[in-house]
Amino acid sequence: MPTATAAASSATDALDAADRRFGWHPFTQMREYQDNPRLHLARGEGNWLIDGEGKRYLDGNASVWTNVHGHNDPDLNRALREQLDQVAHVTLLGLNHPVATELAADLAGLTDCALPRCFYTDNGSNAIEVALKLSFQYWQLVGQDAKRGVISMEGAYHGDTFGTMAVGERSEFHRRFTPWLFAAQTFPAPVHSECAGQVTRSDAAASLAALQAILERDAATTACLILEPVVQGAAGMVQQPTGFVQAVAALCRQYGVHLILDEVFTGFGRLGALTAAEREGVTPDFLCLAKGLAAGYLPLAATLTSEQIYAAFLGKFSEGKTFFHGHTFSGNPLACAVARASLRKLKPMLASGQVAERAALLGREMAAAFAGHPHVRTFRQLGLTGSVEFKPANAERWPTDTRAGFQVALAARRHGLIIRPLGDSILFVPPISIQADEVKHLVRAVRLAMDDVLPSLKAD
Ligand SMILES: Cc1ncc(COP(=O)(O)O)c(C=O)c1O
Repeated sequence: MPTATAAASSATDALDAADRRFGWHPFTQMREYQDNPRLHLARGEGNWLIDGEGKRYLDGNASVWTNVHGHNDPDLNRALREQLDQVAHVTLLGLNHPVATELAADLAGLTDCALPRCFYTDNGSNAIEVALKLSFQYWQLVGQDAKRGVISMEGAYHGDTFGTMAVGERSEFHRRFTPWLFAAQTFPAPVHSECAGQVTRSDAAASLAALQAILERDAATTACLILEPVVQGAAGMVQQPTGFVQAVAALCRQYGVHLILDEVFTGFGRLGALTAAEREGVTPDFLCLAKGLAAGYLPLAATLTSEQIYAAFLGKFSEGKTFFHGHTFSGNPLACAVARASLRKLKPMLASGQVAERAALLGREMAAAFAGHPHVRTFRQLGLTGSVEFKPANAERWPTDTRAGFQVALAARRHGLIIRPLGDSILFVPPISIQADEVKHLVRAVRLAMDDVLPSLKAD
């Protein structure tokens, strides 16, 4: 009789062989994937993921920055099942279903009804595409056709579709597609670095002056400015000082340029508030939400905007004012039901101070683990976001193919942690519901993994 462990392990082997044969994973060099141990996660329980053999890993990546209440949450599961008993999908193209409207009303509450109009899509890139297209079409509809340009901040990441690549940093991710991208102007990011509330450097003046110079020259031909407020996630958790988002918003208002806040990453508790806009006291023209909107359960995104912008699109069909954009699964009822249940749980969690407490603990644990470490170039933390950048002990950097961050992330699995690298760094993005002992496990496992692999990596 084969034991349960042997059966599980042979099932995993079969799955692994099929994955190697048929799979092609996103943002993954598949040669590297094939050459290293692969991990097949079968279940989730709270903030942990569990593989086919029952080994548990803390989800230090919040399943690509989406997870709010942990996996397999009973309240979210119930909301999903109840909606499933009603209907799984109804298109919003010219039709409606109740939970889309209920969630839209909930989301209007995020901005005290300053942005009451909710346009649903199904992922972060599409939420941004919608904001850009709404801004472009709005200026045409109000007779200001010359306003076509976009301003974005250096280091920005807004997604992988062509429009979002065009307004993002022309980084290694997107460089090859440059010939197909429309032009966008960029202004420098401010300089800011903090961990556990200790600010090591902070200067927004040069960034704001550069932005003002662009607006002074080009406001008449600029439709919108797009910004990841407070923290640029994919750039490596690059931070902005308090007051920066307000200053950008004031400049946009002064020069008559729409402000699009990309809160795909920062929304739903990541920075200790429901949105970074609320945290910073800013009302943009467009607020883009995805990832945590449906708590990491299902794909859902929303672009919120004002009544004034909405009104410009109203008219007779023949006037051509209709916004011709939509996705098959925009505003899917199952996703909307989970999003409502998630918001109901998140509000009291934020009000209780739990998330702020865990964020402060994350900062303290990171400072204790990384300050003065011979392989740490820098580290930072704000809310439940963090980054630690590595370096060789006695050289500037490792050859690119050394893949220091990737090696640390692989080693972290041995210490019961899933975490994502970015170049020679590791990004900390736990579920919003992370517990205090889990914060400690998260940082400890990264530190152990660093000490396992970094000393033996050969520098140039
Ligand atoms: C700030 C930001 N905007 C947009 C996106 C794109 O979202 P999606 O991957 O759902 O298209 C991401 C994804 O990481 C993001 O971090």
